[in-house]
Amino acid sequence: MASNSYRNRGILRIVFLFTVICKIGAEYNNPCCSFPCENRGVCLTQGFKEYTCDCANTGYYGDHCEIPTFWLRIKLWLKPGPYTTHYLLTNFQWMWNIINNTSFMRNFIMRSVYLVRNSVIDSPPLFTSGHEYVTWESAANLSYYARTLPPVPRDCPTPMGVKGPKTLPDVELFRKFFVRTKFKPDTINTNVLFAFFAQHFSHMFFKTDLKKGPGFQWGGHGIDVSHIYGPDVASSNKLRTFQDGKLKYQMVNGEMWPPLLKDAPVTMTYPPNVKPEDKLGLGHEFFGMLPGLVVFSAIWLREHNRVCDVMRIEHPEWTDEQLFQTTRLIIIGQTINIVIRDYVQHLSNYNLQLFFNPELLFGYPFQYQNRITVEFNHLYHWHPLMPDDLEINGTKYTAQQYVFNAEMPLKHGMKEMVDSFVKQRAGSVEPNNHPENTIHVALETIKHGRELRMQPFNNYRKRFNLPVYKTFEELTGEKVLATELEQLYGDVDAVEFYVGILLERHVNGGMLGQTVIELGGPNSVKGLMSNPICSPLYWRSSTFGGDVGFNLVKDSTLQKLFCMNMNGCPRIAFSVPLNDDGKTDSMQDEL
Ligand code: HEM
Ligand SMILES: *[C@@H]1O[C@H](CO)[C@@H](O)[C@H](O)[C@H]1NC(C)=O
Ligand SMILES: *[C@@H]1O[C@H](CO)[C@@H](O)[C@H](O)[C@H]1NC(C)=O
Ligand SMILES: *[C@@H]1O[C@H](CO)[C@@H](O)[C@H](O)[C@H]1NC(C)=O
Ligand SMILES: *[C@@H]1O[C@H](CO)[C@@H](O)[C@H](O)[C@H]1NC(C)=O
Repeated sequence: MASNSYRNRGILRIVFLFTVICKIGAEYNNPCCSFPCENRGVCLTQGFKEYTCDCANTGYYGDHCEIPTFWLRIKLWLKPGPYTTHYLLTNFQWMWNIINNTSFMRNFIMRSVYLVRNSVIDSPPLFTSGHEYVTWESAANLSYYARTLPPVPRDCPTPMGVKGPKTLPDVELFRKFFVRTKFKPDTINTNVLFAFFAQHFSHMFFKTDLKKGPGFQWGGHGIDVSHIYGPDVASSNKLRTFQDGKLKYQMVNGEMWPPLLKDAPVTMTYPPNVKPEDKLGLGHEFFGMLPGLVVFSAIWLREHNRVCDVMRIEHPEWTDEQLFQTTRLIIIGQTINIVIRDYVQHLSNYNLQLFFNPELLFGYPFQYQNRITVEFNHLYHWHPLMPDDLEINGTKYTAQQYVFNAEMPLKHGMKEMVDSFVKQRAGSVEPNNHPENTIHVALETIKHGRELRMQPFNNYRKRFNLPVYKTFEELTGEKVLATELEQLYGDVDAVEFYVGILLERHVNGGMLGQTVIELGGPNSVKGLMSNPICSPLYWRSSTFGGDVGFNLVKDSTLQKLFCMNMNGCPRIAFSVPLNDDGKTDSMQDEL
């Protein structure tokens, strides 16, 4: 009897304990869910209720890393804020003319741009999508994209931490914010050549491995020009002739184009209905899809083979292998140079004349390693750049007509293709300007952000030293969209990363929003300047086969890339030409 009642009491006690634990479980909220630590401090839980912020080595102290140290305070006080800096850089042409012509000032400012941008990037990276805390995997597992901010902890009251709705709005609800109502051209006259350059260049390192999940990638984390030479040595071998260092090609109407897939059997993803003569063998498996990607593949192929010829004259003693390998390094250098002086120059709209000189960083602490982050990938989804149709030499091609149509660029020839790309305006990356055929990509990107539990847009602003948006109106810069967004999220601190990126108002006179610039700029500078060829013992003429090769790197421009490799030399630029009255043809069309 007695033992039985003891046993019953024991069971009761276990049941009681179990309910208490469940209750604690239900009420337990990870105290880090409110993201209490500022300025790159790390939130560390202590038991179930407490946390501490680790502010070590951030330059800040205090319970939440909110107080700058004395010297940092002075530095911050002297440093102009992001709005001021942007204003300075995009105005005062006369001042920049003086700076441009004074080499010590020019070098000083350019070095500051490199260093200031670099200082906000974690190198080596701290986080991946696999864990909410620092792990060895973050440093060592290259299959992951890195993460600038760790995922929102799993055990939080809402998907965005503590703010916003318990269930995020259905992504289909965002379609109406994206869908193109009327084509809106970009405000700084960006052209289609820029759009295709952006896509061609960035796809060498934005390679999401969706088979593993949106947090994984199959690229080389930087400027490895794998979009020209293929993702690995086996692919490169299929693209090479093994003669004089050159890559395979086909001649069409006297011009050099990428080889047919049957002659360079790399892995490509062509839909089954594509005709064999439209199937090219390229460095990136998707690049057969669009005529602009075929054009850039062809121009870099021509440049590679041209540089091989130059180097063979310099080095008649070299083998095919040495010609190939050295030319590849020259192509990497040219890519970085062109990206800085032509592409970023246009994108930034700065009056400061940007240039590429790795020597400016010698003697300064700088890590020659890079990791692509998932945030950088998401913010680079600029599909609104694409117009609905492509107009080549007076003929309009709809998306259906130009997709997987290699015959089209080959028939028109390089000159007509680039000339048309230069003259056609790109779309503005803003709300209600997404081409119909890529809206699904934008909606997928929001879904991926959720699967990866990306932190709210405002947290990224804080991470990159930007003031948080206090209202929806401040974010969008208008009222209608702001009101609709507020109905979806309730709290501006709950706006998702990619949604914020696409719906944020542009900086004055710029082609993008401030957050894209302040996140993209550092990731881009870091990716460009941390390339191995920029490190002191690589950056020597011998790496590039002597002064001739070294100068091919240093003197490269977008204009030369095209004009050295085609008949004639039309105007090559990333903006549409202006007429005498300062307007473009298509702007006048609209009036
Ligand atoms: C007509 C032109 C274009 C089409 C049809 C297109 C289509 C696509 C598609 C189908 C995806 C894959 C989405 C997925 O698998 O989830 C994608 C990804 C992407 N697109 Fe585009 N795109 C175009 C132009 C552009 C341009 C101009 C940019 C500018 C930078 C761009 C940037 C990106 C980026 C960064 C990704 C992610 C790639 C990755 O993570 O693997 N795209 N696009
Ligand atoms: C300096 O360079 C600019 C271009 O950056 C040029 O237009 C100007 O004439 C040059 N000379 C002076 C004295 O500013
Ligand atoms: C700026 O100055 C550099 C060197 O002094 C010169 O090579 C470059 O052409 C100048 N930029 C412009 C726009 O004139
Ligand atoms: C990287 O992490 C993923 C996910 O945990 C795992 O499947 C993969 O094997 C890891 N790669 C390496 C090289 O360890
Ligand atoms: C391009 O336009 C010119 C002039 O209209 C025409 O003569 C030429 O045949 C066109 N090229 C192609 C490939 O259609």
